[in-house]
Amino acid sequence: MAEEKTFYLETFGCQMNAHDTEKVIGTLFAQGYRQVEDEKDAGLILYNTCSIRDKAEQKVFHRLNDYKRLRKEGKRFAVLGCVAQQEGEKIFERAPHVSLVSGSASYRKLPEMLARLEAGEERITGLDDRQTEETFETEFTARQNPYRAYITIIEGCDKFCSYCVVPYTRGKERSRTSSSVLDEARRIAESGYTEIQLLGQNVNSYRDPEGKLSFADLLAAVGQVPGIRRVRFTTSHLRDFTRDIVEAIDSIPTLCDHVHLPVQSGSNRILHAMAREYTAEWYLERIAWIKAARRKISLSTDIIVGFPGETADDFIQTMNLLATVEYDCVFAFKYSARPNTPALVMIDSVAEAEKSQRLQVLLDRQREIQRVNYSNHIGEVLEVMVEGVNPARGQIAGRSTQNKTVNFAWGHAIAPATGSYLGVKITGAFPNSLVGVAV
Ligand code: SAH
Ligand code: SF4
Ligand code: F3S
Repeated sequence: MAEEKTFYLETFGCQMNAHDTEKVIGTLFAQGYRQVEDEKDAGLILYNTCSIRDKAEQKVFHRLNDYKRLRKEGKRFAVLGCVAQQEGEKIFERAPHVSLVSGSASYRKLPEMLARLEAGEERITGLDDRQTEETFETEFTARQNPYRAYITIIEGCDKFCSYCVVPYTRGKERSRTSSSVLDEARRIAESGYTEIQLLGQNVNSYRDPEGKLSFADLLAAVGQVPGIRRVRFTTSHLRDFTRDIVEAIDSIPTLCDHVHLPVQSGSNRILHAMAREYTAEWYLERIAWIKAARRKISLSTDIIVGFPGETADDFIQTMNLLATVEYDCVFAFKYSARPNTPALVMIDSVAEAEKSQRLQVLLDRQREIQRVNYSNHIGEVLEVMVEGVNPARGQIAGRSTQNKTVNFAWGHAIAPATGSYLGVKITGAFPNSLVGVAV
């Protein structure tokens, strides 16, 4: 009898990586593998990695170090994702117990690479980088999220912001055809999902290879697939943010009331050094379109503090922008110098302590903005999709169309199903969540 094939897979990084993992798992299932929850029970240990900041990159090397003794028991190791693409064969030097290194642009070759691994080959690589025009599509996606189905509509990035590894780790920008996206959306709806999240490093840079639909058209079409009640999309890039996206949200009820639009900095000097190719004024003009929509659209963003050359005055401009936009959520990061990027040669002039201080000032201010924004919901009845149940406390957690977490009490013996929709009257608010009662 053949020995059973088992794998353990751990994922780091963004939602694109989380969804790649679903496709990789599906591919492994199709090759006869079974998933296990512990490294020690697996024949094959895979890490799907992230290298956006130095801390993220270090995680995989810590993991590899923690488990290297398992190689003696015959277990095999694979490193996938952005660190794999970035470091390439250097990973074999740093962690000689690794047998397979593959970036996301080579996943279509996974079945072949797995076969070579099983045949006992060492040092297998899939490092296609920016050569491939193909997207990774598979019929075998094993969706892990019980209520939200991801669909990648565009892969890679051609924007080359001066601080960022993504154009080097994820390859060229390439979109899927609108017909394949819509086919997948219909299949997802038929399988019972009601929420779809469209993904791309810059999701709105989408260009239909068939030339049929613009990004806004595609959004609207996905929103009109029978059975779909919520459509989210992330991440939007300002340079490709067109007015018809706001019009689509306004006219298609299933498109969620939320736009994530990273700004990175409020200072034009820093935006220029980052090669973002827009100004704060341009950014605020698009924010004004969104705020002028008939529906109240929630806004969130990403910010980098302590970019090389960022002065106290540049930072004040970021703080001013924060106060002007009044976001519902901000992901803020200290600048982290990354390999291969143009910003690496710029002098990382802001001291670590100063970066930490700016980050703290920003997060404290943002917390106050959110305290006000969230409390404005008190008294409203919001439609909430149930995401999790805490039976011990009789507490249900869900999310509003604006992507806000809503915790509410549940008086009945049988808890509502994950993925179901309920009306919740909001009775209280914190800076990061709402509380209420089901109505
Ligand atoms: N494509 C998206 C962002 C993807 S990366 C966009 O352009 O908006 C997610 C976030 O990580 C970025 O928005 C940025 O805020 C942060 N980030 C990327 N590189 C970074 C670096 N070198 N140091 C710190 N933060 C970084
Ligand atoms: Fe990175 Fe810029 Fe591309 Fe976003 S647009 S992934 S920040 S290079
Ligand atoms: Fe990280 Fe790669 Fe995503 S660097 S954030 S996993 S695109």
